[in-house]
Amino acid sequence: MSVEQALTIADLKEQARRRVPKMFFDYADSGAWTEGTYRSNEDDFHKIKLRQRVLVDMTNRSLASEMIGETVSMPIALSPTGLTGMQHADGEMLAAQAAEEAGVPFTLSTMSICSIEDVRSVTTRPFWFQLYVMRDKDFVRNLIGRAKAAGCSALILTLDLQILGQRHKDLRNGLSAPPKFTPKHIWQMATRPFWCLDMLGTKRRSFGNIVGHAKGVTDLSSLSSWTAEQFDPQLSWKDIEWIRDLWGGKLILKGILDEEDARMSLESGADAIIVSNHGGRQLDGAPSSISMLPRIVDAVGDRMEVHLDGGIRSGQDVLKALCYGAKGTHIGRPFLYGLGAGGKAGVRRAIEIIRKELDTTMALCGERDVKNLSRNNLHKDV
Ligand code: GLV
Repeated sequence: MSVEQALTIADLKEQARRRVPKMFFDYADSGAWTEGTYRSNEDDFHKIKLRQRVLVDMTNRSLASEMIGETVSMPIALSPTGLTGMQHADGEMLAAQAAEEAGVPFTLSTMSICSIEDVRSVTTRPFWFQLYVMRDKDFVRNLIGRAKAAGCSALILTLDLQILGQRHKDLRNGLSAPPKFTPKHIWQMATRPFWCLDMLGTKRRSFGNIVGHAKGVTDLSSLSSWTAEQFDPQLSWKDIEWIRDLWGGKLILKGILDEEDARMSLESGADAIIVSNHGGRQLDGAPSSISMLPRIVDAVGDRMEVHLDGGIRSGQDVLKALCYGAKGTHIGRPFLYGLGAGGKAGVRRAIEIIRKELDTTMALCGERDVKNLSRNNLHKDV
């Protein structure tokens, strides 16, 4: 089956499973501890019922919108995901190009394989950069400077990963980048020959933003030991001010799951927040993102943009988040599955699938403009 034949994100996921070595597929596919929050992110979308309307003119539909003042062909951005270049060689560069072609924002993670400069070299549309705050403030300053120099148009600051949630699959797989040459890893790679061939053709196999840039880091084999040593566990609202001033551009705070934190975000002067539990990868036992969205929108949505990530697997999920007042949504795993399944064509396909589902669902709900979606399009009591 080719990526063009995939009809759903789930189809792409199965293709990726067959193409990507287990330790990297599992890295994308895992949640923390029991994976309960990871599952409820998806399950809670299914509980929301749409209002079907008929005999409404369905011509001239539009999905175009704005996220933090930028025109987007639909209100979806690609999330910052770690180790994207391990799902497919040069993964971040390919995903950024697919996003650019589709007219949606791409966000590069601090923990990416391709560097800020690599992605800049293959794109013309400004991309967004996601920052983890490290103890080494010179390194943070340096990363922000590099993102500015690359023309990034927004900084997404992740707030919910100052220590790493435990993901059992990664520990069992002995996840590392580049992979170690243990018999298990050699076997996992040998059974994925196309992935290996692509990987042999690139020099980008470690953390491009970090290795060779952070003091004394020449290799970064263990994600968990790096985060434990380097991420600043004392990050506070005061640091947000420092980063906001240093950056001086559009700032998005990611990892807000509480109304009180949403109000603090508003006070911090951020332009937007992303309601997120890090795809269920951090605090297992936290509620799903979509279940927290309505109350966070009610708390701050009239004064700042509220976005959502976590659990989106279809255009229907996007529509539901928009109905609850999200001005934008962010997708991680859906594009990673596409990338693993078929590189740039796979990411393109993932975006197309979601676009088609969003458009058809909107029409069947009796709406023609994505900007008009509201709670009125949902059933309250069914
Ligand atoms: C990094 O952002 C991760 O969730 O692994």
